[in-house]
Amino acid sequence: MIRAIYPGSFDPVTLGHMDIAERALCVADELVIGVLNNSKKTSLFSAEERVKMLQDTLGIKHSNIRVEAFTGLTVDFARKVNADIIIRGLRAVTDYEYELQMAQMNYKLLPDVETIFLMANIKYAFLSSSVIKEVALYGGDITNFVPPVVAERLREKF
Ligand code: PNS
Repeated sequence: MIRAIYPGSFDPVTLGHMDIAERALCVADELVIGVLNNSKKTSLFSAEERVKMLQDTLGIKHSNIRVEAFTGLTVDFARKVNADIIIRGLRAVTDYEYELQMAQMNYKLLPDVETIFLMANIKYAFLSSSVIKEVALYGGDITNFVPPVVAERLREKF
């Protein structure tokens, strides 16, 4: 039984994140989505709100996906839930440097856990939570880029 974690900010979850999470089930039997609750980084949605949106989309759909908030290091979260692998998505070459650095540091800290990268579906390669928030802030249509529950929550926020 392979258990993976998929850590991230998910502020908010996009269709790109959902695609990576669902495709991660090709390599893992169980996926724990870890929502970073970072007191130093301001987020639009609280960790509880982000967890809830992920539960209402991916958690409801897949019995082998669960969602938890975490603080501190990703490797400590991986240890806590007994993960075998860490999943991260790569959209473009611009993601690579940061992701490589993180994966290498995580490997140094916890060599038993491998990071596996999944390439973003080309349909979603341009998507990021930041871009979604900016478009939503100025009243643009984001319904093709996020699940309906997130579109609704963004409408309420702005
Ligand atoms: O969705 P994001 O913001 O790209 O996710 C980044 C995240 C949460 C995976 C990364 O910031 C993280 O792992 N933070 C926890 C602290 C940590 O473990 N840092 C890695 C050591 S370099």
